[in-house]
Amino acid sequence: MAAPPKPVRHSQTTITELMIPAYANFGGKIHGGILLSLMDKVAYACASKHAGAYRVTVTVDKVEFLQPVEVGELVSLHASVNYVGRTSLVVGIRVEALNVKTHVVKHTNSSFFTMVAKGDDDRPAEVPLLILETAEDVKRFIEAMRVRQIKQAMREQMDDAKSHIDIAHAAELLKKERCIITYQPNV
Ligand SMILES: CC(C)(COP(=O)(O)OP(=O)(O)OC[C@H]1O[C@@H](n2cnc3c(N)ncnc32)[C@H](O)[C@@H]1OP(=O)(O)O)[C@@H](O)C(=O)NCCC(=O)NCCS
Repeated sequence: MAAPPKPVRHSQTTITELMIPAYANFGGKIHGGILLSLMDKVAYACASKHAGAYRVTVTVDKVEFLQPVEVGELVSLHASVNYVGRTSLVVGIRVEALNVKTHVVKHTNSSFFTMVAKGDDDRPAEVPLLILETAEDVKRFIEAMRVRQIKQAMREQMDDAKSHIDIAHAAELLKKERCIITYQPNV
């Protein structure tokens, strides 16, 4: 049985981490993979606080690195449960980098993690209802619900598109694309 309903604020989580030189890529900026790993951590912590169960990441949406993060900056990742379905929930994450000398805060990226709660039997388990106390909570829930509907429709269309690939007409279909077909069907 799912735990009692919980407000959004109950599970809101922030992680702050100093960007050390070991996190930098060859260009001297912070590696995107470091930020993704921190985002996964904060999403997991936030989702676990809401559901109190073991959970897995199903999808990560809209990963855009809007501005580079520099060594020495303090990165804060703010996570909030935006939406709950029956067994899944969507965690929104906002990443900000603070330059401690200039006090300038950059918004470096925002992302949405869909996570599913798992029960002791390793099957998807029901998550508690989400209590929406503010206009922002309601807005984010509706937004996430709409995105979920669009993604579901897109998955169906993609499955359909994949099952109807007519390779015999590839030359015609790809004539304006930047590829050269050397494949010859066995005759
Ligand atoms: C995610 C997983 C549990 C779904 O299992 P399943 O048997 O398809 O379960 P269901 O069909 O009952 O779906 C469970 C929930 O996942 C959601 N879901 C499934 N596939 C999804 C997708 N591609 N995108 C978004 N949500 C998805 C369903 O909508 C459902 O949510 P709801 O109950 O809120 O409506 C399973 O695919 C899995 O364990 N994947 C591996 C996850 C993993 O290892 N992640 C990396 C490390 S954490």
